[in-house]
Amino acid sequence: MVFENYFIRSKVFASPLLFELLNFFDTWRSARSFERRFPQFDPAVLRGGLSVLVRHALLQRSDQPHDPASPRAMAAWANWNPAAGLLHFSTKDLQYSSDLEFLLKRQQTRAKTLPMPAPVKRYPGAKRIALLAPRQSGEFPQVLLARRTWRNFSSRPVELSALSTLLGLSFGVRWWVDVPGLGRLALKTSPSGGSRHPIETYVLARRVANLPPGLYHYAADKHCLERLKRGANSSQLSRYLAGQKWYGKASALVLMTAVFGRPQWKYQSPRAYRAVLIDAGHLCQTFCLVATWLGLAPFCSMALADSRIESDLGIDGVSESVLYAAGVGTLPRNLKWAPWPTPFHATRHANPAFA
Ligand SMILES: Cc1cc2nc3c(=O)[nH]c(=O)nc-3n(C[C@H](O)[C@H](O)[C@H](O)COP(=O)(O)O)c2cc1C
Repeated sequence: MVFENYFIRSKVFASPLLFELLNFFDTWRSARSFERRFPQFDPAVLRGGLSVLVRHALLQRSDQPHDPASPRAMAAWANWNPAAGLLHFSTKDLQYSSDLEFLLKRQQTRAKTLPMPAPVKRYPGAKRIALLAPRQSGEFPQVLLARRTWRNFSSRPVELSALSTLLGLSFGVRWWVDVPGLGRLALKTSPSGGSRHPIETYVLARRVANLPPGLYHYAADKHCLERLKRGANSSQLSRYLAGQKWYGKASALVLMTAVFGRPQWKYQSPRAYRAVLIDAGHLCQTFCLVATWLGLAPFCSMALADSRIESDLGIDGVSESVLYAAGVGTLPRNLKWAPWPTPFHATRHANPAFA
């Protein structure tokens, strides 16, 4: 049986007896009363067990300081826990390996005994109706087709005008909807479940012309940047992206956080957590498409150093937590497509069905 404090990612493997022992502490109780309640056990063993439980944050001591802010922020998660909280908090700060060679070899070895699942589904017995070729002329389809995840960038900075367009078209509040008795709800270029728009945007600007390097908050209603910290460099960028060195030369990183109180106020079901993730996906795709339209090199990343980012942003990671990152640089010269990093030796060819 596993007892987990998923908020701080601490696990204890124990027999179901631990449940009974923990259940005794449904209110503040002394170690003495614990020993009296379970006379069948050696008091020294019980005391040792208590300190293990305290060390693994399954029990709290009244005489030891604890941060009152987190339990208070966690209370807002009450309706979403344990389903959403377990997923969100227990998957933070995952250690990623940047050793692509090792990762690829591991996948290739697995593929020998367990082939990769098919990338598409087929109904062999079903009658097929051929579709007409999609319309592909015009700027919009060309932008869609040109979007790729870039991992190489030139050393030229991104212009401030381009960053302004990127932020304004992707994350800016473009309209307000006034609802009597409620207040105003934001509308952006991306949809949002219940128009809660939980996503906030921050920019780590490393190389943007006429913008001092630094960490900024994008004020989505005022369309301006609010500086939180001066300075930004390549290693900070890679560190935020859990050590992915190939993103160090990007010009700017956009960090998307969620202010959970916005959807939690309206939705009592943990299912709403799914909507928060999907909202971030919509915004990110819009960002990548706008960047492509501007002739820039966008990317997105789920591999994040969550706690480091949250600490630098000055957010608590509970009421507001980082979810996703997108970034942008200038296109490298002489590259026709966004090549995959070296060990993959991946080539690309068009699907003849769309020729
Ligand atoms: C949710 C999500 C997370 C991703 N995380 C990473 C990442 O951590 N590092 C990375 O290099 N690419 C990441 N990517 C980019 C994918 O690897 C990329 O989209 C995929 O290889 C397909 O290539 P394309 O974007 O050029 O179509 C992520 C993409 C998505 C949608």
